[in-house]
This record gives sequence, structure tokens and C-alpha cells, in this order.
Amino acid sequence: MKRDNFGSKLGILAAAAGSAIGLGNIWKFPYITGQNGGAAFILVYLACIVLVGLPVMLTEFALGRRTHKNAVGAFKELEPNKPWYLSGVVSVSTAFIILSFYAMIAGWVFAYLSRSVSGNLINVAPDKLGDYFGAIISSGTEPIVWTFVILSLTACVVILGVKTGIEKCSKVLMPVLLLILIGLMIRSVTLDGASKGLEFLFKPDFSQLTKEGVLEALGHSFYSLSLGMAIIMTYGSYIDKKENLFKLAVQVTIADTLIALMAGVVIFPAVFAYGLEPGQGPGLIFVTLPAVFKAMPFGAFFETLFFLLIGIAALTSTISLMEVVVAFVTEQFNIGRKKATVLIALALFALSIPSTLSFGPWAEVKIFGKNFFDLFDYVTAKITLPLGGVLVCLFGGWIWGTKNAVKEIESNGLYPFSWSRLYSFAVKFLAPIAIIIIFVHSIGLMEYFKTDNGNLATTNVFLAGGVLLFVLTMWGLKMRRTSGEE
Ligand code: PFF
Repeated sequence: MKRDNFGSKLGILAAAAGSAIGLGNIWKFPYITGQNGGAAFILVYLACIVLVGLPVMLTEFALGRRTHKNAVGAFKELEPNKPWYLSGVVSVSTAFIILSFYAMIAGWVFAYLSRSVSGNLINVAPDKLGDYFGAIISSGTEPIVWTFVILSLTACVVILGVKTGIEKCSKVLMPVLLLILIGLMIRSVTLDGASKGLEFLFKPDFSQLTKEGVLEALGHSFYSLSLGMAIIMTYGSYIDKKENLFKLAVQVTIADTLIALMAGVVIFPAVFAYGLEPGQGPGLIFVTLPAVFKAMPFGAFFETLFFLLIGIAALTSTISLMEVVVAFVTEQFNIGRKKATVLIALALFALSIPSTLSFGPWAEVKIFGKNFFDLFDYVTAKITLPLGGVLVCLFGGWIWGTKNAVKEIESNGLYPFSWSRLYSFAVKFLAPIAIIIIFVHSIGLMEYFKTDNGNLATTNVFLAGGVLLFVLTMWGLKMRRTSGEE
């Protein structure tokens, strides 16, 4: 079967940035920034993006382009007859599960967009917005219908293929997203009292920063750049050997970060100008912001633009998540793209239903003490996503090896990569150790190692021991390695 490729530099950038820029930037980044005290959190986030996110993105691009295969096929080609392909299986499964509930949240956005267009949302009294949101997400049928719409739209684009579907669609939607964002930013910063919001975003107060905040920044840098679930690897597999991967990864990273910051500039000045709370959590865009728009002149218009913006951002991300699964199924099982996409979209729709019902009739149906949505979110965000991320680092850094990765990044000498040593250090040590620390912390293992009086020294001894063990294991694996590339 002939493989599709991206057709132009701009198309690759639009598609990869479109994947990275999603609900993570416009919904999650602002609310976690709000919860973690603003500017100091953002500085830590930026450091994580540069030191951990960018090197991992480069590795994923390199692995994909080196093999021109889907996530599982890529590992199989580089380490045949070894279980490394399971790393691809973890990533594809993660993308599949995440998409099932990501599409549901995108569905909430579309429900808000339709109510915004009809003028219904702007008429809701500010103190009723919490109940209004609750009623929509718990209603059962409406979120299910919207999830179906999102998955169908996504499938229509994916069916058309990489060049005619994903690339064309991203090239139209991304400029629209940017224009809307700029328009909303101008509106927000020109409100009376906007400066307090800008101060919150850009004037760091390190006393607000907690250890949890640092870990959250690290985890979010992964989520936001679409790493650890083979999205970037899959897109990398459609890139021509003549493209400059380092330049591309830097551009995607900058675009993703700038858009997140711009979303902050849209949201916080407006929230502060109307005297509302920035630390609202997930309800920030669904409960707090509609109150802001209600108070603003021409609020209904700006509200519609805002939900259209998030809708577009979400759609270019759902497309990339679905492409990971479609690439895997078409290539590994030799099934046509159209048939594979329809089957996958239907399976995703089926899996999204328990998550949707978790906010309503099935709220009390629990597995391991969690409803379906919480369970899917926990398993992916806290377990399989970090696992996929760590495996990519270990494979790229130690098994395939950074020498081969650098060769691919340089397009065999076409674009000299002067940061190669720093890159190798980041992929071999910095990134995997950072991800393991988030993992250990997020599943509560850290607490387990603490002595009764919370003795930090003991925790640190365990951590140092863990790092040493990691280095020795990797070194051992490298020594035993016999097959594959140079
Ligand atoms: N990077 C996109 C976002 O920030 O929304 C898409 C995405 C990546 C969604 C990773 C979900 C995810 F776990």
C-alpha cells in the first residue's frame, strides 16, 4: 500500500501545531495557571517545555521519519523480534482512550457554541451558570449527540488522508484560530482593569509555587505538546527526508507555547476586569467566562468567537489522535483507510458513552472507586501517558540511540545540529527521570516511601537510589543489545 506524505512545509507545521494546540492550551493551561498562582508557574512550565518537551518531540519526529511507519511498525522495524513494539501498542491505546473522552469534552464546547449562537447562553444569570453547565453535561443525550458529531467530523477529515484531509484542513483552520485569538486578545486587554490580569500572568511571585505546581507544569508540557502517545511520531512518518526536523520541532513548540500564553491573555485580564476568581479549575471557561461575556459590551459576539476558537483547536487535535489509531490499523492489519476509520470512529463512540454517562445517570457506577470518566482519565494521564513517554525516551536515548536519532535529525548531514550533546543528555537522563518522578508522585508512591514523620531525607535516599538503578539498568541494556542499527 502506498503511503501518503505531507505536501508542504507549511502544511506539516499547521498539522503538527494543530495537534499540539488543543483543549490543553485554551482550557487546561489557563485553569491550571489560575490554580497555581500565575507567572511563577508559567516560568517553570517554559523551562519544562525547553528541557524536556522539545527533546522528546525531536525524538518522536526522528523515530517516525526514520521508519516511515505507524507507531507499532516503527519499533518493529528498528528492533525486530524484541518486545519494544509494545511501547507503540501502549501509545496507540492511550491515544484511543484519550480520544474517547477528549471528544466528549470537545462536545461540551460545541454544546456551548450552539447555545452561544442561538443567544441562549448570554441570557443565563451569572449565579445560575454553574447549574447550567451541570445540567448540560449530566443530561446524557445531548453530550452523546455532540460527541458523535465531533467523531464524525474528525473521521471525515481522516478518511480523506494525510495530504488532502489533515493537511488541507489544518491549513485553513489554524489561521482562522490565530485571527480569532488576536481579536479576542485585543478585546480583553482593552477592558478597564485588565492590567491586573496581565500582572497575574507575567509578574512572578515564587511564594505561590508549590511542589505540586512544578509537577503539574512538567506533566502539562507533555500533554500540551501531544507527546507520549505517538502523535508526533505518526506525523513524523509522513515527513520527507529533506525537511529540517529541528526547525520544525522548535516552530511547533513555540507556536504551542505562544497560543497557550495568548489564551491566558484573553482569559485573565477579562476575569480580573470583572472581579472574578482566576482559580476556578475546570469550570473556568464554562462557568466563569460566560459571566465575563455577559457583562461585556457585544458579549454574545465575543462569546461565540471564543467557543468557536476552542472548537477549532479541539478538532485539529482529535484529528491527530484518530490518525494515530488509523495509521496503526491500516498498516498493521492491512485494512483500507475508509473502512478502518469508520470502524475506529464507531468503537470510539461506543467507548465515549460510559464517560459521558459518568456525569449523569452512571455517576455512581464505580470501578476501583472511580466512575468511568475518572478511571479513563486516571489510567491514561497518570499511567499510560507517562509510560509511553518514558519508553520513547529510553528507546530513542539508549536502544536506537541518540547517535542514530541525531543522524536522522540532521537529515544525514544536511542540517548540522549544534545542540546534539544537550539533546542527548536530555533524552537519556533528564526527560526519563523527570517523567518517572511525575509518575511516582502522581500514583502516590512517594507517600509510601515517606517514613511516619514524613522524613524527607529517606525519600531523597530512595530517589537517588532509583536514579542510580535507572542509569545502571540502561547501561546494562545498552551493553546487551545486539541487533538494530549502528
Ligand atoms: N496537545 C493537544 C492538547 O493540548 O489539547 C492534544 C492532546 C494531547 C490531547 C494529549 C490529549 C492529550 F492527552
